Amino acid sequence: MRQAGRILPEYRKVRESAGDFKTLVTTPELATEVTIQPVDILGVDAAIIFSDILVIPEAMGLTYEMEEKKGPVFPKVIQSAADIHNLRIAQAEDLQYVLDAIKLTKAELNGRVPLIGFAGAPWTIFSYMIEGGGSKTFSKAKKMLYTNPALAHQLLDKITQSTINYLKGQIVAGADLLQIFDSWAGILSPEQYDEFSLRYIRKICEAIDEVPVTVFAKGAFFARETMNLLPCKVVGLDWNMDIQESIKMLPNKVLQGNLDPCALYGTLDDVRRETKRMLDAFGTHPHIANLGHGLYPDTEVDKVKCFIDTVKEYSVTSKLK
Ligand code: CP3
Repeated sequence: MRQAGRILPEYRKVRESAGDFKTLVTTPELATEVTIQPVDILGVDAAIIFSDILVIPEAMGLTYEMEEKKGPVFPKVIQSAADIHNLRIAQAEDLQYVLDAIKLTKAELNGRVPLIGFAGAPWTIFSYMIEGGGSKTFSKAKKMLYTNPALAHQLLDKITQSTINYLKGQIVAGADLLQIFDSWAGILSPEQYDEFSLRYIRKICEAIDEVPVTVFAKGAFFARETMNLLPCKVVGLDWNMDIQESIKMLPNKVLQGNLDPCALYGTLDDVRRETKRMLDAFGTHPHIANLGHGLYPDTEVDKVKCFIDTVKEYSVTSKLK
Protein backbone atom coordinates (compact mmCIF):
# COMPACT_ATOMS: atom_id res chain seq x y z
CA MET A 1 0.00 0.00 0.00
CA ARG A 2 1.80 3.06 -1.20
CA GLN A 3 1.87 5.91 1.26
CA ALA A 4 0.50 3.73 4.03
CA GLY A 5 2.81 5.58 6.37
CA ARG A 6 1.71 9.11 5.77
CA ILE A 7 -1.72 8.68 7.37
CA LEU A 8 0.05 7.92 10.65
CA PRO A 9 0.50 10.64 13.29
CA GLU A 10 3.91 9.03 13.88
CA TYR A 11 4.87 9.80 10.27
CA ARG A 12 3.70 13.39 10.47
CA LYS A 13 5.78 13.89 13.58
CA VAL A 14 8.97 12.74 11.87
CA ARG A 15 8.12 14.76 8.76
CA GLU A 16 7.59 17.90 10.83
CA SER A 17 10.84 17.51 12.69
CA ALA A 18 12.67 16.89 9.37
CA GLY A 19 11.23 20.16 8.05
CA ASP A 20 10.33 18.95 4.57
CA PHE A 21 9.71 15.92 2.40
CA LYS A 22 13.07 16.02 0.62
CA THR A 23 15.03 16.03 3.87
CA LEU A 24 13.12 12.90 4.85
CA VAL A 25 13.91 11.24 1.53
CA THR A 26 17.61 12.15 1.55
CA THR A 27 18.37 11.29 5.20
CA PRO A 28 18.73 7.49 5.39
CA GLU A 29 18.04 7.26 9.15
CA LEU A 30 14.75 9.17 8.78
CA ALA A 31 13.74 7.34 5.59
CA THR A 32 14.36 4.06 7.43
CA GLU A 33 12.27 5.12 10.40
CA VAL A 34 9.22 6.03 8.28
CA THR A 35 9.63 2.96 6.06
CA ILE A 36 9.30 0.69 9.09
CA GLN A 37 6.41 2.56 10.77
CA PRO A 38 3.62 0.86 8.72
CA VAL A 39 5.14 -2.56 9.47
CA ASP A 40 5.17 -1.95 13.22
CA ILE A 41 1.95 0.03 13.54
CA LEU A 42 -0.31 -1.33 10.79
CA GLY A 43 1.03 -4.87 10.44
CA VAL A 44 1.58 -4.84 6.66
CA ASP A 45 3.61 -7.84 5.56
CA ALA A 46 6.05 -6.00 3.30
CA ALA A 47 7.78 -2.63 3.54
CA ILE A 48 8.32 -0.22 0.63
CA ILE A 49 11.34 2.03 0.85
CA PHE A 50 10.44 5.63 1.60
CA SER A 51 11.54 7.68 -1.40
CA ASP A 52 9.88 9.07 -4.52
CA ILE A 53 9.88 8.29 -8.22
CA LEU A 54 11.18 11.83 -8.85
CA VAL A 55 14.65 11.13 -7.52
CA ILE A 56 15.53 9.88 -11.02
CA PRO A 57 14.94 13.14 -12.90
CA GLU A 58 16.85 14.87 -10.12
CA ALA A 59 19.82 12.50 -10.52
CA MET A 60 19.70 13.23 -14.27
CA GLY A 61 19.99 16.96 -13.60
CA LEU A 62 16.42 18.19 -13.16
CA THR A 63 15.67 19.02 -9.51
CA TYR A 64 12.16 18.85 -8.06
CA GLU A 65 10.45 20.56 -5.16
CA MET A 66 7.66 19.02 -3.13
CA GLU A 67 5.08 21.72 -2.46
CA GLU A 68 2.77 21.37 0.53
CA LYS A 69 -0.72 20.23 -0.50
CA LYS A 70 0.17 20.63 -4.17
CA GLY A 71 2.65 17.87 -4.92
CA PRO A 72 5.84 17.82 -6.93
CA VAL A 73 6.97 20.74 -9.10
CA PHE A 74 9.97 21.04 -11.43
CA PRO A 75 11.19 24.65 -11.66
CA LYS A 76 12.93 23.81 -14.97
CA VAL A 77 11.42 21.49 -17.56
CA ILE A 78 12.58 19.75 -20.74
CA GLN A 79 11.66 21.67 -23.88
CA SER A 80 14.29 21.01 -26.53
CA ALA A 81 16.84 18.59 -27.96
CA ALA A 82 19.55 20.61 -26.18
CA ASP A 83 17.79 20.13 -22.83
CA ILE A 84 17.76 16.36 -23.40
CA HIS A 85 21.39 16.39 -24.50
CA ASN A 86 22.36 18.16 -21.26
CA LEU A 87 20.77 15.49 -19.05
CA ARG A 88 23.09 12.94 -17.46
CA ILE A 89 22.45 9.22 -17.44
CA ALA A 90 22.11 8.57 -13.71
CA GLN A 91 24.38 6.02 -12.08
CA ALA A 92 23.40 4.08 -8.96
CA GLU A 93 25.95 6.09 -6.91
CA ASP A 94 24.10 9.31 -7.74
CA LEU A 95 21.32 7.96 -5.54
CA GLN A 96 23.53 6.72 -2.74
CA TYR A 97 21.13 8.14 -0.14
CA VAL A 98 18.39 5.76 -1.32
CA LEU A 99 20.79 2.82 -1.41
CA ASP A 100 21.95 3.66 2.13
CA ALA A 101 18.33 3.86 3.29
CA ILE A 102 17.70 0.40 1.78
CA LYS A 103 20.76 -1.07 3.53
CA LEU A 104 19.81 0.46 6.85
CA THR A 105 16.15 -0.62 6.54
CA LYS A 106 17.16 -4.19 5.68
CA ALA A 107 19.39 -4.29 8.74
CA GLU A 108 16.66 -2.91 11.01
CA LEU A 109 13.95 -5.17 9.60
CA ASN A 110 16.26 -8.10 10.24
CA GLY A 111 14.22 -10.43 8.00
CA ARG A 112 10.83 -9.61 9.56
CA VAL A 113 9.24 -8.71 6.20
CA PRO A 114 10.59 -8.27 2.67
CA LEU A 115 11.60 -4.81 1.43
CA ILE A 116 10.24 -3.48 -1.86
CA GLY A 117 12.33 -1.10 -3.95
CA PHE A 118 10.82 0.93 -6.77
CA ALA A 119 11.11 3.40 -9.62
CA GLY A 120 8.74 5.25 -11.92
CA ALA A 121 8.15 3.86 -15.40
CA PRO A 122 9.99 5.88 -18.08
CA TRP A 123 6.75 7.26 -19.55
CA THR A 124 5.56 8.61 -16.17
CA ILE A 125 8.98 10.17 -15.45
CA PHE A 126 9.03 11.64 -18.97
CA SER A 127 5.63 13.25 -18.32
CA TYR A 128 6.88 14.95 -15.13
CA MET A 129 10.05 16.17 -16.84
CA ILE A 130 8.08 17.82 -19.65
CA GLU A 131 5.03 19.04 -17.74
CA GLY A 132 6.91 20.18 -14.63
CA GLY A 133 4.27 18.66 -12.35
CA GLY A 134 0.93 16.91 -12.40
CA SER A 135 -1.56 17.77 -15.14
CA LYS A 136 -5.15 17.02 -16.13
CA THR A 137 -4.44 16.50 -19.82
CA PHE A 138 -0.69 15.93 -20.07
CA SER A 139 -0.95 17.80 -23.34
CA LYS A 140 2.66 19.03 -23.32
CA ALA A 141 4.06 15.53 -22.83
CA LYS A 142 1.68 14.06 -25.43
CA LYS A 143 2.43 16.88 -27.87
CA MET A 144 6.02 15.66 -28.17
CA LEU A 145 4.83 12.13 -28.98
CA TYR A 146 2.91 13.51 -31.97
CA THR A 147 5.25 16.29 -33.12
CA ASN A 148 8.70 14.85 -32.44
CA PRO A 149 8.54 11.13 -31.62
CA ALA A 150 12.28 10.67 -32.29
CA LEU A 151 13.10 13.21 -29.60
CA ALA A 152 10.63 11.58 -27.23
CA HIS A 153 12.41 8.26 -27.75
CA GLN A 154 15.78 9.89 -27.00
CA LEU A 155 14.51 11.11 -23.64
CA LEU A 156 12.74 7.85 -22.83
CA ASP A 157 15.93 5.98 -23.62
CA LYS A 158 18.02 8.12 -21.25
CA ILE A 159 15.44 7.69 -18.48
CA THR A 160 15.36 3.92 -19.07
CA GLN A 161 19.14 3.58 -18.82
CA SER A 162 19.16 5.67 -15.64
CA THR A 163 16.35 3.59 -14.15
CA ILE A 164 18.11 0.29 -14.87
CA ASN A 165 21.31 1.56 -13.20
CA TYR A 166 19.29 2.73 -10.22
CA LEU A 167 17.27 -0.49 -9.82
CA LYS A 168 20.43 -2.62 -10.11
CA GLY A 169 21.84 -0.53 -7.25
CA GLN A 170 18.70 -1.17 -5.20
CA ILE A 171 19.12 -4.93 -5.69
CA VAL A 172 22.76 -4.80 -4.53
CA ALA A 173 21.66 -2.71 -1.53
CA GLY A 174 19.16 -5.44 -0.57
CA ALA A 175 15.74 -4.82 -2.19
CA ASP A 176 13.83 -8.12 -2.28
CA LEU A 177 11.35 -7.12 -4.99
CA LEU A 178 11.05 -4.13 -7.32
CA GLN A 179 7.93 -2.30 -8.38
CA ILE A 180 7.62 -0.07 -11.45
CA PHE A 181 4.93 2.62 -11.18
CA ASP A 182 3.42 3.83 -14.44
CA SER A 183 1.01 6.30 -12.89
CA TRP A 184 0.12 8.07 -16.13
CA ALA A 185 -0.32 5.00 -18.33
CA GLY A 186 -4.03 5.71 -18.72
CA ILE A 187 -3.67 8.87 -20.78
CA LEU A 188 -2.15 7.15 -23.83
CA SER A 189 -3.87 5.28 -26.65
CA PRO A 190 -3.14 1.54 -26.81
CA GLU A 191 -0.78 2.05 -29.78
CA GLN A 192 1.06 4.88 -28.06
CA TYR A 193 1.25 2.90 -24.87
CA ASP A 194 3.02 0.07 -26.70
CA GLU A 195 5.45 2.39 -28.42
CA PHE A 196 6.25 4.94 -25.71
CA SER A 197 5.80 3.01 -22.51
CA LEU A 198 5.64 -0.79 -22.64
CA ARG A 199 8.70 -0.96 -24.88
CA TYR A 200 10.78 0.68 -22.13
CA ILE A 201 9.17 -1.21 -19.26
CA ARG A 202 10.07 -4.38 -21.17
CA LYS A 203 13.72 -3.25 -21.38
CA ILE A 204 13.79 -2.71 -17.63
CA CYS A 205 12.19 -6.11 -16.93
CA GLU A 206 14.65 -7.81 -19.30
CA ALA A 207 17.58 -6.18 -17.49
CA ILE A 208 16.45 -7.45 -14.09
CA ASP A 209 16.50 -11.14 -13.34
CA GLU A 210 17.81 -11.13 -9.79
CA VAL A 211 14.51 -10.37 -8.01
CA PRO A 212 10.80 -10.44 -8.93
CA VAL A 213 9.40 -7.32 -10.61
CA THR A 214 5.88 -5.89 -10.27
CA VAL A 215 4.54 -3.63 -13.02
CA PHE A 216 1.68 -1.34 -12.01
CA ALA A 217 0.25 0.65 -14.89
CA LYS A 218 -2.59 2.84 -13.61
CA GLY A 219 -5.46 3.03 -16.07
CA ALA A 220 -3.90 0.64 -18.61
CA PHE A 221 -6.87 -1.73 -18.72
CA PHE A 222 -6.44 -1.83 -22.51
CA ALA A 223 -2.89 -3.20 -22.22
CA ARG A 224 -3.54 -6.20 -19.97
CA GLU A 225 -3.14 -8.86 -22.68
CA THR A 226 0.18 -7.37 -23.77
CA MET A 227 1.31 -7.11 -20.18
CA ASN A 228 0.74 -10.84 -19.77
CA LEU A 229 3.74 -11.24 -22.09
CA LEU A 230 6.08 -8.91 -20.16
CA PRO A 231 9.03 -10.62 -18.47
CA CYS A 232 7.81 -9.66 -15.00
CA LYS A 233 6.31 -11.80 -12.26
CA VAL A 234 3.55 -9.56 -10.87
CA VAL A 235 1.08 -7.14 -12.45
CA GLY A 236 -0.70 -4.56 -10.30
CA LEU A 237 -4.38 -3.80 -11.00
CA ASP A 238 -6.38 -0.68 -10.24
CA TRP A 239 -10.07 -0.81 -9.33
CA ASN A 240 -11.25 -0.03 -12.86
CA MET A 241 -9.98 -3.42 -13.93
CA ASP A 242 -12.50 -6.19 -13.41
CA ILE A 243 -10.88 -8.99 -11.42
CA GLN A 244 -12.32 -12.01 -13.30
CA GLU A 245 -11.56 -10.41 -16.63
CA SER A 246 -8.02 -9.58 -15.48
CA ILE A 247 -7.38 -13.18 -14.42
CA LYS A 248 -8.38 -14.30 -17.93
CA MET A 249 -6.20 -11.68 -19.59
CA LEU A 250 -3.20 -12.14 -17.30
CA PRO A 251 -3.10 -15.91 -16.61
CA ASN A 252 0.71 -15.96 -16.35
CA LYS A 253 0.95 -13.30 -13.67
CA VAL A 254 0.63 -13.02 -9.94
CA LEU A 255 -1.91 -10.21 -9.57
CA GLN A 256 -1.75 -7.38 -7.04
CA GLY A 257 -4.46 -5.03 -5.93
CA ASN A 258 -7.08 -3.76 -6.37
CA LEU A 259 -9.46 -2.28 -3.80
CA ASP A 260 -10.47 1.34 -4.42
CA PRO A 261 -8.72 3.38 -1.69
CA CYS A 262 -12.04 5.24 -1.30
CA ALA A 263 -13.64 2.00 -0.07
CA LEU A 264 -11.80 2.75 3.19
CA TYR A 265 -14.06 5.77 3.77
CA GLY A 266 -16.91 3.34 4.62
CA THR A 267 -17.71 1.91 8.05
CA LEU A 268 -15.61 -0.93 9.48
CA ASP A 269 -18.31 -3.35 8.31
CA ASP A 270 -18.19 -1.85 4.81
CA VAL A 271 -14.42 -2.23 4.74
CA ARG A 272 -14.62 -5.89 5.82
CA ARG A 273 -17.30 -6.65 3.23
CA GLU A 274 -15.49 -4.93 0.34
CA THR A 275 -12.20 -6.56 1.26
CA LYS A 276 -13.75 -10.04 1.36
CA ARG A 277 -15.49 -9.39 -1.92
CA MET A 278 -12.13 -8.58 -3.49
CA LEU A 279 -10.43 -11.65 -1.99
CA ASP A 280 -13.28 -13.92 -3.18
CA ALA A 281 -13.06 -12.52 -6.69
CA PHE A 282 -9.35 -13.42 -6.93
CA GLY A 283 -10.24 -16.93 -5.72
CA THR A 284 -7.29 -19.28 -6.00
CA HIS A 285 -5.38 -17.16 -8.52
CA PRO A 286 -1.99 -16.13 -7.05
CA HIS A 287 -2.73 -12.75 -5.49
CA ILE A 288 -1.02 -10.05 -3.41
CA ALA A 289 -3.79 -8.24 -1.55
CA ASN A 290 -3.48 -4.49 -1.87
CA LEU A 291 -5.33 -1.33 -2.79
CA GLY A 292 -5.69 -0.26 -6.42
CA HIS A 293 -3.62 2.89 -5.80
CA GLY A 294 -2.02 4.83 -2.92
CA LEU A 295 -3.91 5.75 0.22
CA TYR A 296 -5.47 9.19 0.46
CA PRO A 297 -4.09 11.27 3.31
CA ASP A 298 -7.46 11.66 5.08
CA THR A 299 -8.04 7.90 5.43
CA GLU A 300 -8.58 6.83 9.05
CA VAL A 301 -5.96 4.57 10.56
CA ASP A 302 -8.48 2.07 11.97
CA LYS A 303 -9.98 1.54 8.49
CA VAL A 304 -6.57 0.72 7.07
CA LYS A 305 -5.89 -1.61 9.97
CA CYS A 306 -9.28 -3.25 9.36
CA PHE A 307 -8.40 -3.83 5.69
CA ILE A 308 -5.08 -5.44 6.65
CA ASP A 309 -6.56 -7.57 9.45
CA THR A 310 -9.41 -8.76 7.21
CA VAL A 311 -6.94 -9.81 4.53
CA LYS A 312 -4.87 -11.75 7.05
CA GLU A 313 -7.78 -13.43 8.82
CA TYR A 314 -9.92 -14.15 5.77
CA SER A 315 -7.03 -15.48 3.68
CA VAL A 316 -6.31 -18.05 6.39
CA THR A 317 -9.92 -19.06 7.11
CA SER A 318 -10.98 -19.27 3.46
CA LYS A 319 -7.93 -21.42 2.68
CA LEU A 320 -8.86 -23.84 5.46
CA LYS A 321 -12.34 -24.33 4.01
O1 CP3 B 1 4.40 4.70 -0.06
C1 CP3 B 1 5.43 5.14 0.40
O2 CP3 B 1 5.50 5.80 1.42
C2 CP3 B 1 6.68 4.72 -0.32
C3 CP3 B 1 7.31 5.78 -0.99
C4 CP3 B 1 6.62 6.43 -2.18
C5 CP3 B 1 6.30 7.83 -2.21
N1 CP3 B 1 5.95 8.14 -3.48
C6 CP3 B 1 6.40 8.75 -1.07
C7 CP3 B 1 5.56 9.97 -1.09
C8 CP3 B 1 6.34 5.92 -3.44
C9 CP3 B 1 6.40 4.49 -3.90
C10 CP3 B 1 5.95 7.01 -4.28
C11 CP3 B 1 5.67 6.86 -5.71
C12 CP3 B 1 5.17 8.02 -6.45
N2 CP3 B 1 5.46 9.33 -6.26
C13 CP3 B 1 4.35 7.91 -7.60
C14 CP3 B 1 3.92 6.62 -8.25
C15 CP3 B 1 2.79 5.95 -7.58
C16 CP3 B 1 1.47 6.60 -7.77
O3 CP3 B 1 0.90 7.07 -6.78
O4 CP3 B 1 0.94 6.62 -8.87
C17 CP3 B 1 4.09 9.22 -8.05
C18 CP3 B 1 3.24 9.60 -9.24
C19 CP3 B 1 4.81 10.12 -7.21
C20 CP3 B 1 4.89 11.58 -7.29
C21 CP3 B 1 4.31 12.22 -6.10
N3 CP3 B 1 4.89 12.25 -4.85
C22 CP3 B 1 3.08 12.93 -6.03
C23 CP3 B 1 2.13 13.14 -7.17
C24 CP3 B 1 2.96 13.39 -4.70
C25 CP3 B 1 1.93 14.33 -4.14
C26 CP3 B 1 0.56 13.83 -4.17
C27 CP3 B 1 0.20 13.03 -2.97
O5 CP3 B 1 -0.33 11.93 -3.15
O6 CP3 B 1 0.41 13.53 -1.87
C28 CP3 B 1 4.06 12.90 -3.97
C29 CP3 B 1 4.30 13.11 -2.53
C30 CP3 B 1 4.63 11.90 -1.73
N4 CP3 B 1 5.48 10.88 -2.09
C31 CP3 B 1 4.16 11.65 -0.41
C32 CP3 B 1 4.75 10.44 0.00
C33 CP3 B 1 4.62 9.77 1.35
C34 CP3 B 1 3.24 12.53 0.39
C35 CP3 B 1 4.07 13.51 1.11
C36 CP3 B 1 3.48 13.86 2.42
O7 CP3 B 1 2.28 14.14 2.49
O8 CP3 B 1 4.24 13.89 3.40
